[in-house]
This record gives sequence, structure tokens and C-alpha cells, in this order.
Amino acid sequence: MTSALTVPDLIYDPSDPGVMANPFPVYARLRDEDPVHWSPSLKSWIITRYHDVRDMLLSDHLSVNRLVQFYSALPPKEAALLKDIIHYLNLWLAFRDPPDHTRLRRIMRHAFTAKAIEDMRPNIEDITEMLLDRMEANGSDQVDLIREFALQLPAFVIMDLLDVPRDMLDAFKEWSDDMAVFIGGARNSGDKYERAARGCQKMSSYFRELIAERTKTPKPGFLMDLINARDDGDKLTDDELVATCILILFAGHETTTNLIGNATLLLLRHPDQLARLRADAALIDRVIEEVLRFDGPTNALVRAVAQDHQLHGKHLREGERVFVMVNSANRDPRMFDQADTFDITRRQNRHLTFGQGIHLCLGAKLAREEGRVAVQALITRFPDLALDPDEGPEWLDAMVPRGTRRLPVRLGS
Ligand code: HEM
Repeated sequence: MTSALTVPDLIYDPSDPGVMANPFPVYARLRDEDPVHWSPSLKSWIITRYHDVRDMLLSDHLSVNRLVQFYSALPPKEAALLKDIIHYLNLWLAFRDPPDHTRLRRIMRHAFTAKAIEDMRPNIEDITEMLLDRMEANGSDQVDLIREFALQLPAFVIMDLLDVPRDMLDAFKEWSDDMAVFIGGARNSGDKYERAARGCQKMSSYFRELIAERTKTPKPGFLMDLINARDDGDKLTDDELVATCILILFAGHETTTNLIGNATLLLLRHPDQLARLRADAALIDRVIEEVLRFDGPTNALVRAVAQDHQLHGKHLREGERVFVMVNSANRDPRMFDQADTFDITRRQNRHLTFGQGIHLCLGAKLAREEGRVAVQALITRFPDLALDPDEGPEWLDAMVPRGTRRLPVRLGS
């Protein structure tokens, strides 16, 4: 690599607990000193400035399809283990470039209508109230907000959307966590391939049966719309349907859990901002946007270089991996005034947390709605909600998602 241009003592180590808890100081250094940084330990490029991140997400010099190369480099034993998961992931529109991506997205937009998302609103409110009732009835002042609330809310919403019975929550959580260690790039998990293969096998069998059942006995709703979605007569194949259900379940729940968790943590750490929101509920839209910017669930997105090109004097070669650091871009003072200030009244807020360009998140409207309902209902129900003074948050050990595994709070009830 272009080692002469690499700043020698600038090391980005996402598995360092200090960096996990607060990656922003190292992002600031990367943006200023080495915005196109080669990480020898990650064997990847790290891109940290707003305009570079945005341009890269829009550029066809980069590809989302990095699985083929990854798979072909695996030793035979691991390749056999991961055969199924790679098969399904390869059918995700999130991992396809045009023209395959264009085809899948055209079909899927017939199911992801504004109406389908609006129809979910009463459901989101019911689920939120049910979870808050349960926490209150539990009688314990000390609660892990992730386990009792932030995790279950989006999981139930997405399960309802996909017609999966709510008593499957524990099984689904386990399968999706198993897949997440592989997809989210967890760095400290030794058996991640075995877990991912097991999770994928269970989840795909479940959806295959559910889709067969719905096709035989139709029932109106999002899943049926997805099965029936047609674009110019073209539709999703059975395998694509299974893969797409897994993608939606996957894309739709952990991200939103992290949005709710990060929002709660930020508001509790910034009591002045929380007080403003309590005084003016109409600020909730801007609160969610500011959480998405300031410490959102998308730490990084991953790409592969599709064509050799130069950026800030560095040569990016075909096949190399690129981490496009969205959370760093969202704190870039070249783009945002007072970028390191959490300000819920911010007006100019063109954060990149839902991506950019052709892969822009299909579930952004749903996620925003869930975030708004969850945060507003939580702070209303528990006016004295506070961080647990004895136990701090525990951050996820992952480079792509950003959120807490545990968020101990006191309900003050
Ligand atoms: C706060 C919550 C969420 C965040 C931060 C988020 C973020 C993102 C991002 C950054 C991308 C683009 C990935 C890339 O360019 O590589 C994306 C894509 C996607 N998201 Fe979300 N998402 C969220 C919630 C949801 C929900 C609730 C759903 C489904 C109901 C969903 C479905 C999807 C799908 C299907 C794609 C793939 C789009 C494509 O490749 O064309 N997301 N999301």
C-alpha cells in the first residue's frame, strides 16, 4: 500500500473498548490527518470525510457485491459451512449492483408503499404501550432498556409486517443474532461462521414454509404484497422471496433497536435537550434526525473497489475493501456547524445514516416512525427516567452497526 502517505501513529482499532465507547476522537483525527486511510489490521480503506463518504456511496467505482471475492478466498471447510448463507445474501438487493439491483428494487417497491408503512402506525403504538405496561407492571426500578424495550419493539413490528407470530420472538432473535455476527463484522467472536450458518439455515427454512403456506392460503398484508409484487410481469423467485424476508427482518430490527437505544442514551446524557423535548413534543421529529446524525445506528457501510481510482492522492485498487464511515461523515465540521454538539433544534441535517443513492434505505419511513413513537412514549411514561448510576452502557462489539448491547436505566417509578 501507499505506506509513505500513511500517518504512522494513527491507528484505528474498532475492537479497542475505548474506541467502541467513543470512536469520535479517532474519526476526527482520521478526517484531518488521513481521510483515505489504509488500515493494515483491517486490510481495508477507511473513508471518513462527509463529501468523500457521500460521493463514494453514489459512485459506480465501488460495488456492494463483495461476497463473491470473499467466498472464493475461503478455505474449503469454511466455504462449505457458509455455502447457504452466501447463497441467500447474494440474493439480497443490498448486496447487488445494477442491473440486478435495479430489477429487485423495482419489484420490491410494489410492496414497500407509503400506505403499507402508514398501516403499521397503530401497531407501533400498541406494541409500545404493551411493552411499557409490562415494564411498569414488573415493578423493578432497574431495567436493561435494550432487552425490555428497544429490542422487542422493532422486532415485533417487523414480525407483524412479515406475518410471523409474536411467540417466535426468542427464536428469531437467536437466529438473527447468529447471522449478525457474520454480517455486522463482529471482531471478537471465534465461532462466528458456525453461528451464522446455523442462524441462516433456521431462518430460511422458516420463511420457506411460511411463504408456501401464504401462497396456498392468501392473507392480505405486506408479505402477501411481496409475494404478489410484479414489475412488468417479472416477480421474485422463491429463493429471492426467502432471501428478501430475511433481509427485511434483519435490516429492520437491529438498526431500529439501536436508534431507540442511542436516542435514549443521548437524551439522558443531555438533560437540557431532554427538558426541551419534554416542554415541546413537536420537536420529536428533529430529535430523531439529530440522534441519527450525532450517534446513529450506521457506523459504517462496506464496499469493494470495482475499478482502480485515486482519492486524495491514494490509489484504490480493484477488489480492495472499503469501510465508508457514515458516523464520522455525520460529525464532519466541513458539513455541519458545531458538528460535535448534540442539538435537537438543528435545522440543516443532511446526515447519511440511511445511506445515499440507489441503496437508500427502503425502511427509513418506518424506522423514523418507530423511533418517534418509542422515544415519546418512553419519556412520557417515565418522567424520572435516568441512567443507572452504578452500571454504564455496554457497546456492541461490531464495526458496521452502532449501538448498545445493554443500556441499564432506572425507571424512577
Ligand atoms: C434506524 C433504522 C435503520 C437504519 C439506520 C437503516 C439504514 C440503512 C442503510 C444505511 C442502508 C443502505 C445500505 C448500503 O448502502 O449499503 C439501508 C438499506 C436498506 N434498508 Fe434500512 N435502515 C433502518 C431501518 C430499516 C427498516 C425498518 C427496514 C425494513 C422494514 C429497512 C430495510 C432496508 C432495505 C430493504 C435496504 C436495502 C435497500 C437497497 O439495497 O436498495 N431498513 N438501510
